[in-house]
Amino acid sequence: MADASGNIEAKNYGFDIPVEKKSFFLKGLDNFDWGIKDRMSRIFDVKSGKTVMLAFDHGYIMGPTSGLERIDLGILPLVEYADCLMCTRGVLRSCIPPDVNKPISLRCSAGTTVLTELNDECIIDIEESIRMNASAMAIMVSVGGKYEATTIRNLTKIVDLGMKYSIPVLGVTAVGKELARDSRYLSMASRVCAENGAAFVKTYYCEEGFNKVVAACPVPIVIAGGKKLDEDKALEVAYKAISDGAAGVDMGRNVFQAQDPIAMIQAVRAVVHDGAKPDKAFELYNDLKK
Ligand code: R5P
Repeated sequence: MADASGNIEAKNYGFDIPVEKKSFFLKGLDNFDWGIKDRMSRIFDVKSGKTVMLAFDHGYIMGPTSGLERIDLGILPLVEYADCLMCTRGVLRSCIPPDVNKPISLRCSAGTTVLTELNDECIIDIEESIRMNASAMAIMVSVGGKYEATTIRNLTKIVDLGMKYSIPVLGVTAVGKELARDSRYLSMASRVCAENGAAFVKTYYCEEGFNKVVAACPVPIVIAGGKKLDEDKALEVAYKAISDGAAGVDMGRNVFQAQDPIAMIQAVRAVVHDGAKPDKAFELYNDLKK
């Protein structure tokens, strides 16, 4: 029972000190709930406002992708350098020890592999995300594709559920073979994700007008790395994306398929968090390379 008689008198009211009003450090999220902001603050570095997410969810559509044959050998040595891990529940349960204590962007849509065209995508139960302590739920959205409606419905459903439990949603823009990855398309796809409630969006970098893609998206954008490039080129892409306003990267193949993935993820960190120029980051890569 509280001891009323022994209480110290309350007197530190700071009458002359106004309460500090602070905007949330990530754009567009001021009016989101506390739990969502808390989770986003685990994914994004509060000081730099950026993130280096490590994507290794490729197996859910591609099977044992090069570099991901053995998650314990290919990915675990990289985990300490990643701000967030993006993977499926299967690999998370089987291969990632919970004591790595990294925020998880859980791949929550499924239904198609590379052996067929995109078709009947579904979403996994919200309870799985809660059980896996996900910091975000990643949903693939195919704007302009044959199954656009299905994937947008999945996004809206998972946002509804995410809002209920304060788990932010990452809208992942899938670009069909028939669609151009230009700023016009990427702006539209990213904007559609944000308009439907995604707290952040993962899309591709494009050479022309990526600053417009970022500017027209009201929430943070992270870029996917895409197909494997030479290490210096991949660092250049990361640098240009960050210079154009991206809030980070969610890279997979350009990290785990690099000649030296541990050196590569550290070089990417230098670009994203420290603003290193691509040539400096490549120098760092070469210095760290075994
Ligand atoms: C794509 O749907 C997957 O979610 C990957 O996580 C994504 O493409 C990022 O990987 P990468 O950098 O290899 O493109």
